[in-house]
Amino acid sequence: MKNYAIVLAAGKGTRMKTELPKCAFPILKKPMIEYIVENIETSVVDEIICVVGFKKEYLQDLLKDRVKYAFQEEQLGTGHAVCKAADLLSGKEGTTAILLGDMPLINNKVIDKVISYHNDKKNDLTVVTAEFDKPKGYGRIIRNEFGNIEKIVEDKDCSKTQKLIKEINTGIYIVDNSLLFDAVHKIEINERKGEYYLTDIVEIMKKEEYKVDAFLLWDSPKVMGVNDLYTISQAEKHLRHDINKSHMLNGVSIINPETVTIGHSVVIEEGVIINPNTFITGDSVIKKGSIIGPNTEIHSSMIHTHVSVKHSLVYNSEVYDNTTIGPFAHLRDGAVIGKNNRIGNFVEVKNSKTGDGTKAAHLAYIGDTITGSRVNFGCGSITVNYDGVNKNKTIIGDDVFIGCNTNLIAPVEIGNKVFIAAGSTVTKNVPEGALAIARNKQINKADYAKILIRPKVDTK
Ligand code: UD1
Ligand code: CA
Repeated sequence: MKNYAIVLAAGKGTRMKTELPKCAFPILKKPMIEYIVENIETSVVDEIICVVGFKKEYLQDLLKDRVKYAFQEEQLGTGHAVCKAADLLSGKEGTTAILLGDMPLINNKVIDKVISYHNDKKNDLTVVTAEFDKPKGYGRIIRNEFGNIEKIVEDKDCSKTQKLIKEINTGIYIVDNSLLFDAVHKIEINERKGEYYLTDIVEIMKKEEYKVDAFLLWDSPKVMGVNDLYTISQAEKHLRHDINKSHMLNGVSIINPETVTIGHSVVIEEGVIINPNTFITGDSVIKKGSIIGPNTEIHSSMIHTHVSVKHSLVYNSEVYDNTTIGPFAHLRDGAVIGKNNRIGNFVEVKNSKTGDGTKAAHLAYIGDTITGSRVNFGCGSITVNYDGVNKNKTIIGDDVFIGCNTNLIAPVEIGNKVFIAAGSTVTKNVPEGALAIARNKQINKADYAKILIRPKVDTK
């Protein structure tokens, strides 16, 4: 028999107060819904149906054909949302896991565990519950004198004593698919909220004497729901902690890990040191022996072995072995830095490639440039790549010395072993081996300063 999953993701997320639909909101730069779908995909579930509605194109664009879609045009509650999956699922034999699209910490082990519990117990409906010290906002589990689940009462509908109950509804339900749609179609509207609550399925199925059970899960944070930007930050904290821990156990040393954020898809080899206040996200790879941070952001970049990056930003770039980046460097949009380079102290590199042993140690802009090996960019060197309309290329050979405060006006080519005098504005190509000087000659006017600088008159 097949296992199905229905993920409810049609809601707007009013409490988020953001433009994005809640389930598309990113945590560690990855949309929440992707965490959920990824974990369902790697569980025993065979087919996933995602219920979408508010700004559905956002979610469809993210998930593409990884899931089938059911549409809830008007968001009339979680019970109403499940009904929308009927076209795709009703009449099918199997077990269905219903999950909410706002539980980003859920993992495949939890899903597998509760589905096998449900099947072992031959339940018709299993509600997955957890115990929270601060249960506010969650539906509470009401059990009878025998300890069996009776019903779920939403936080806002709870009496004072019900509010004290710490066992909450996680929003995960495992249900016999052949019974599901009959039951959800019987849900009546909750007058206070004007919504059809999926939680009512418990009382409906109990009344019809189906076997309804609650599974109390101990690893509670994994099933937290997020409703606003504060709970997003709490979910992010849990994720960050788990990711950092797994890197540390794999031999990555993270100093002050509370201040270090590492994205879900980042690969870090053992022996790497990550210093405080560092963010590594996207599909970045950090190879052996590199030291990253402090105060550094690396996004979707490849950092090879024994590289040091400190107080710097590296976006969509690649840095080869033994190179030093920073302090205060900015690599972006396809910067590819060779081996044994030194790039730092307020240097920006964009869409440029450098050969091995090249240095730009202070105050430089290198944009749309191909640079050879052992080139020295003096302090204040600028590749002038933009003429107001087009971006133009600068090509620099090997063993070139670019004196301080030089402008290379692109398009321009500098041959191998060229020396450019400090303060030059280079507009023409420079052939191999040449010394280029492109600046006004200095004039010294004898004694002229003595006239200009008058001696101070003593007024005492
Ligand atoms: C829900 C549960 C509550 C549980 C909590 C766990 C109900 C009535 N309440 O409350 O018992 O403790 O989750 O986190 O089910 N959605 C739709 N269509 C709708 C409404 C919601 O698809 O019409 C989706 C949302 O996009 C969201 C999910 O369902 O992903 C949960 O909705 P939300 O409004 O966050 O429910 P809670 O108030 O958190
Ligand atoms: Ca919620």
